[in-house]
Amino acid sequence: MSNLVHHEEMAVDSSENGFENENLSRGDISNIRPVPRITLQAFCETEQVAQVLNAAANDRRMVKAHVKVNMGGIPAAAEFYEIAPTPNLIVVESLLSGDELMADLARLANNCDGETKVVVVGHKNDIAMYRELISNGVSEYLMAPLSMADIMNTVSDIFVNPEKGALGKVIAFIGAKGGVGSSTICHNVAWAISNSFKNDVVLADLDLPFGTANINLDQDPTQGIAEAVFSPDRVDDILLDRLLAKCAEHLSLLAAPSTLERTYDFDPSAFNNVLEIAQRSTPYVAVDLPHQWNGWVREVLSTADEVVIVACPELANLRNTKNLIDTISDLRPNDDIPRLVMNQVGVPKRPEIAIPDFVGPLNVEPAVVIPFDPALFGNASNNGQMISEVDAKHPVAESFDVLAQILTGKAELKQEKSSALGFLSRLGLKRG
Ligand SMILES: Nc1ncnc2c1ncn2[C@@H]1O[C@H](COP(=O)(O)OP(=O)(O)OP(=O)(O)O)[C@@H](O)[C@H]1O
Ligand SMILES: [Mg+2]
Repeated sequence: MSNLVHHEEMAVDSSENGFENENLSRGDISNIRPVPRITLQAFCETEQVAQVLNAAANDRRMVKAHVKVNMGGIPAAAEFYEIAPTPNLIVVESLLSGDELMADLARLANNCDGETKVVVVGHKNDIAMYRELISNGVSEYLMAPLSMADIMNTVSDIFVNPEKGALGKVIAFIGAKGGVGSSTICHNVAWAISNSFKNDVVLADLDLPFGTANINLDQDPTQGIAEAVFSPDRVDDILLDRLLAKCAEHLSLLAAPSTLERTYDFDPSAFNNVLEIAQRSTPYVAVDLPHQWNGWVREVLSTADEVVIVACPELANLRNTKNLIDTISDLRPNDDIPRLVMNQVGVPKRPEIAIPDFVGPLNVEPAVVIPFDPALFGNASNNGQMISEVDAKHPVAESFDVLAQILTGKAELKQEKSSALGFLSRLGLKRG
């Protein structure tokens, strides 16, 4: 889009250059808590709203958020998201009201993922319209002219409000047997969510003695998950920020020490606190579990929002997968059963159980089937790269995008997004 304006180019700081910008109303921002790692994209109609959003984006309370301010209003947004993934929050400004505004929003809704929140900035003070928008799934209607406090309070209310539950979704990965590729799948899916869907992900490597996320993501952090778990009382969002190693624009790692200087024996609830805090500040937390069965592994599995079991097509894997699915389903009777990923399929000369025979007794379809490809996976891990960094067009990289899409409930990239009609789904408006 030609009228794309990044906030850094338009940053306004009236205090520094000594005069008050008449457009820039702060409002009372003194009590606003830092906002989480969300992506916010705005499509404005007026300079005033764009300037306030840019100024808010540069405020310390919003440093964790990724903010982009564009012009063009709702029509530009609807066009942009025909091909681009939608962020956590879209702010659209419109000079219209009534049916015209609703028609514009319906076009945008067609291209919105189900979980994306939408805030409308309008110019009409009309309570009936406000009610109609809110009852149709718009998160908030703000009146222009906007203040920084308006936008920060709204973001906090949507994403930090404890009554609305935690912001982030915890996705836990476990192997049905050692060495089946559970960590590799976990890291690549975390990468896919952050890179293809531009949503922030914290990757927590809970294999403290032997974790490989630091190698696979070419990171050498000195501290990480160990510091969080050995001093649980000290863990808060500030400490967590310090322990995270930034791997990419949207991906941060809570790395394992991967040393044997001490043993790692934990209480069942040892990781609850740190995962909860990560979940409060980040839309997705990918948890790489070791292939073990103890109190804390069971606890993480029973509290995660999604569980992914990675298995190879052979007999011990089948038995263990069955036991895992049965036990995890008992632990979380009101949740979907775990997703199954078949990995390392087609090892030369290895007698394998055919996929239909493997999944038949389990009563699940594999979410994806990934072939055994030692050259591809070996090169990636030797270079500290993800599969899609080695070859973005490789079918295996596409499988990771598909898995990321399934686990996040996001619409398929660059395809008709009709399956995930977003916020206006309750409008009763016709799509298309
Ligand atoms: N589809 C695949 N084809 C070939 N090699 C693979 C494939 N998937 C993973 N690997 C390789 O298998 C090895 C083990 O992978 P990984 O460490 O991810 O397994 P794991 O299940 O996490 O093991 P652990 O039990 O140690 O946690 C790695 O060298 C990885 O690169
Ligand atoms: Mg592992």
